[in-house]
Amino acid sequence: MTESRHKARLVILISGRGSNMRSIVEATRQGELEVEIAAVISNRPDAAGLEFAGHAGIDTQVLDHKQFDSRESFDNAMIDIIDSYQPDFVILAGFMRILTADFVTHYAGRLINIHPSLLPKFKGLHTHERAIEAGESEHGASVHFVTAELDDGPVILQAKVPVLADDNADTLAARVLEQEHLLYPAAIKKLISQQTE
Ligand code: GAR
Repeated sequence: MTESRHKARLVILISGRGSNMRSIVEATRQGELEVEIAAVISNRPDAAGLEFAGHAGIDTQVLDHKQFDSRESFDNAMIDIIDSYQPDFVILAGFMRILTADFVTHYAGRLINIHPSLLPKFKGLHTHERAIEAGESEHGASVHFVTAELDDGPVILQAKVPVLADDNADTLAARVLEQEHLLYPAAIKKLISQQTE
């Protein structure tokens, strides 16, 4: 991708709060990140992040997974909507769905996720509880390429935080989330600069 062609186009997928999506939108508004956010898509009609994106003037779409009778049919419908925006990258920002291998293959090299742990540690859910239970002194978040394995795939950038003696899952999650909001825009910036080299 060259500078003269176009700014990288992102489609962001969310399922809920959307605070990571918001951090990407804000970094773009502030000129820290030179991308075009083509659409924000949620699999849940009640995702709080949709309202923020709509107010920010971004196209929003809802594709309710409950209206589909299989994972394949949902993912295929998702591909049709996403591809109508012709994105360079598809950004999973708290998108809490297991993806089919066909979906992942379709976006190979263009599908990015943020996960609240220092991968390869603590794949899956309840990462903060598990980091405390394991007696970790450090925890954090990872932005990585998505591959067919859950929470696997090459890491683009990580952010670390200390685990404090009096932490519970909520205090640790809040410390990690603060870093996630810096990490995701930084990782996208890194990705784009590698593409333009
Ligand atoms: C974030 O902490 C993100 O890392 C996590 O969900 C949260 C979404 O928050 N993602 C995963 O656990 C993916 N396996 P947000 O909706 O406010 O961005």
